[in-house]
Amino acid sequence: MNLHARAERNVILLIVLILLTVSIGGIVEIVPLYTIETTIEKVKGVRPYSPLEQVGRNIYIREGCYTCHSQMIRPFRDEVERYGHYSLAAESMYDHPFQWGSKRTGPDLARVGGKYSNEWHVAHMINPREVVPESVMPPYGFMADRVLEQDDIAEHLKALRAVGVPYSDEMIENALADFRAQADPEADTEGLLARYPKAVVGDFDGNPAELTEMDAIIAYLQILGQMVEFPDYDSDLLKQ
Ligand code: HEC
Repeated sequence: MNLHARAERNVILLIVLILLTVSIGGIVEIVPLYTIETTIEKVKGVRPYSPLEQVGRNIYIREGCYTCHSQMIRPFRDEVERYGHYSLAAESMYDHPFQWGSKRTGPDLARVGGKYSNEWHVAHMINPREVVPESVMPPYGFMADRVLEQDDIAEHLKALRAVGVPYSDEMIENALADFRAQADPEADTEGLLARYPKAVVGDFDGNPAELTEMDAIIAYLQILGQMVEFPDYDSDLLKQ
């Protein structure tokens, strides 16, 4: 009897041979990954979120916006034409947890930054149907009345640093000042912008006297997809 027939008729021998084959395949695929530090290609412009953006992100997660919105543009022509350049792995490398999502009751938000004015966002969050009559998005007007607690912001950044987000000592020292400056039209934002290039500054919610959840969520929405300069990374899909 040849070896093939013998292996197929002897269950124990077959199991041993299968395990052997699978192990070799596994070693060949997995071991090389241990020799490199990361599988994510570094991309120019990607930075940690500013304190206000990060707080907005926490609110986004608290409210479950991800149950209706994804943040991941797939490399398909229809998606790229609708939302812009497909998402790069590096664009969510500092997200804990990432917001890729798999449900699109509403549109993908990975590149919503800069698409609308702050005023549009305020009107939309207060009553989505005022700006998009057929919208099924719930209203979030209460955010404009909720003043943010401010004193624990440095702790948020420290917690993120513990899981690998490269917040520097300088960023953590200035966390509270940066947090307030981003939504204060009178503030000196030079330091903030040096630490967090491209951060959108100014009064977001039309109420400069107070720092509210509305300021934070809009600061966050306005930076989404804005960090990387395209067409530095031009899409083959768009060129066709
Ligand atoms: C029940 C599902 C649902 C939830 C939850 C939801 N949205 Fe929406 N969202 C939609 C739908 C549908 C649209 C498209 C119609 C519109 O613009 O209102 C939309 C549109 C948007 C847009 C405009 C996108 C564009 O490109 O035009 C933004 C920004 C947005 N949502 C932000 C949020 C945020 C922030 C939250 C959480 C606080 C949230 N949404 C929660 C369903 C939802």
